[in-house]
Amino acid sequence: MSKVAVVGAGTMGNGIAHVFAQHGWDVTLVDVELEALERGLKTISTNIERLVKKGAGSREQGAATLARIATSTKLDSANDVDLVVEAAIENPKIKFEIFAALCRLLPPQTILASNTSSISITELARHTDNPARVIGMHFMNPVPLMPLVEVVRGRLTNDETVRRVVEVVEELKKTPVIVNDSPGFVSNRVLMPMINEAILCVQEGIATAEAVDQVMTLGMKHPLGPLALADLIGLDVCLAILEVMVEGFGDPKYRPARLLKEMVASGRLGRKSGVGFYVYRD
Ligand SMILES: NC(=O)c1ccc[n+]([C@@H]2O[C@H](COP(=O)([O-])OP(=O)(O)OC[C@H]3O[C@@H](n4cnc5c(N)ncnc54)[C@H](O)[C@@H]3O)[C@@H](O)[C@H]2O)c1
Repeated sequence: MSKVAVVGAGTMGNGIAHVFAQHGWDVTLVDVELEALERGLKTISTNIERLVKKGAGSREQGAATLARIATSTKLDSANDVDLVVEAAIENPKIKFEIFAALCRLLPPQTILASNTSSISITELARHTDNPARVIGMHFMNPVPLMPLVEVVRGRLTNDETVRRVVEVVEELKKTPVIVNDSPGFVSNRVLMPMINEAILCVQEGIATAEAVDQVMTLGMKHPLGPLALADLIGLDVCLAILEVMVEGFGDPKYRPARLLKEMVASGRLGRKSGVGFYVYRD
């Protein structure tokens, strides 16, 4: 396999495109928004420059990585790829439409993977003609730096698809961990309740955001406090994941904090909007 389409050029999509191109894959990066593609390419370019400055690759290698990435606003420009990694917005309806379109467009041997944080892979697969080739490839943020890919096996994903995706993850020099499909998988089922509790501590006036994060960084040795991490992930993404988990488990313990909903409604989305629990100047 050597050709991949990455659908969605936001926080995750541009990182995923970067890592595939870095490892010699031809990448088509697709987004409905032209500006998202431009922003995505700019981020990749900045990250490449940073790597070159750190001595993690030459200028020529960086240029070659960038040259392997084509962009498009049309899904059908990716009709000859071996693998699709869908990283569009965390909205079930939009993802179902993308998967239905992908299976019309691509031959049966093309693997259809989603980077969803929480939406059921089995449910996504139901919107295709061949659920055996649908799988979760859950990269972590920031993609170029994080070693884990949670490989999510849907109820009907076949062994061959799992095997091929594990091989791809290893080729990208990352570590695959295979889990079964369930809302939030393992990563977000464990992480999101912690982030939500951290937000409730601020909402209830128990501590400031800085104090909550300090408790977890200094006291629990977390490299990043839960609120700084929520800002990095995107507060809209955190809210969407918690909503999928409340719905999926039917359990109110995953109900998102009021403060989280208010922050998203007022456009304070974390790093990507410049303000979340913290203010970001660059
Ligand atoms: N942010 C994180 O830390 C993180 C981590 C792991 C997984 N994820 C998952 O990755 C996915 C993307 O998250 P993100 O943080 O990059 O979101 P984002 O909001 O930064 O980017 C989403 C992109 O999808 C594009 N988009 C919307 N509809 C589309 C369509 N029909 N076709 C193509 N592109 C479309 C948007 O224009 C936007 O550029 C989500 O499923 C999210 O749950 C996010």
